[in-house]
Amino acid sequence: MSYSKTFPRVTAPMLGQYKREGRRIVGLTAYDAVFAALEEEAGVDFLLVGDSAGNVIAGHSTTIPMTMDSMVFLTRCVSRGTSHVMVIADMPFGSFQVSVEDTVRNAVRFLKEGGAQAVKLEGAGYLLPAISRMVEVGIPVMGHLGLTPQRINVFGGYDVQAKTREEAKQLIEDAKALEAAGCFAIVLEKIPSSLAEEVTKAIQIPTIGIGSGPACDGQILVNYDLLGIFDKFKPKFIRHYMDGAKLIHEAVSTWVEDVREQRYPSAAECYQISDNAEKNSANGKKR
Ligand code: KIV
Repeated sequence: MSYSKTFPRVTAPMLGQYKREGRRIVGLTAYDAVFAALEEEAGVDFLLVGDSAGNVIAGHSTTIPMTMDSMVFLTRCVSRGTSHVMVIADMPFGSFQVSVEDTVRNAVRFLKEGGAQAVKLEGAGYLLPAISRMVEVGIPVMGHLGLTPQRINVFGGYDVQAKTREEAKQLIEDAKALEAAGCFAIVLEKIPSSLAEEVTKAIQIPTIGIGSGPACDGQILVNYDLLGIFDKFKPKFIRHYMDGAKLIHEAVSTWVEDVREQRYPSAAECYQISDNAEKNSANGKKR
């Protein structure tokens, strides 16, 4: 991957270029500096600080309770842990519904305080003026259509969206409108694969699929899902690349046993008094 010397991160225009070159775009969520660094090292193009943090970090049953302050904090953590990927902050419920001014003000916080390079927000229609304004003032915007979890109270569940021809037609129109408003990419969540393919062909900007089949220009998953850490529910589009929940359970319960049976700490894991001890710790050489 080649980065500009003056701006060393993946940028919105680069993702557009990847679509034109037919290079698949890879996104993943992250909510903290350690995971963000590991995911960057593994080669993803962008990290989304998703409001899915509401489910996997905060323990809520929906994304609705996430606040601007909590999302800005998580974004700052992810930005600090990375140097090359593009960091995209998810605008939480309530942060873009009130007015264009309020939306822009909140998005600005993600760039200034969170260190993000772009924001994502769910929906189309009434949001178009706010999206145009954000792009106009220098904030790259990622759209999000299909299953938009912030509308859980309207949808009544997390089912596949746009299954009728009429809904599919509306979604294609919404995607075109988001592109015209200036979005640099659109997440398509849980829609039929054939519709995702149609949308991908109908617009010039990249589509990033989650549960929307292989024809999208890129894919994104929630990191806790990919790693099998969040195993409370598993829609069929999620593939666990490791059994994180089981591995963590095994590691922690082994440690618990080791402490109780006095196998931890061992002599090698203890510090001894020695002439050099003070010097070493003052130099910060030994942990
Ligand atoms: O919040 C999130 O993690 C998301 C992705 C699932 C696209 O919006």
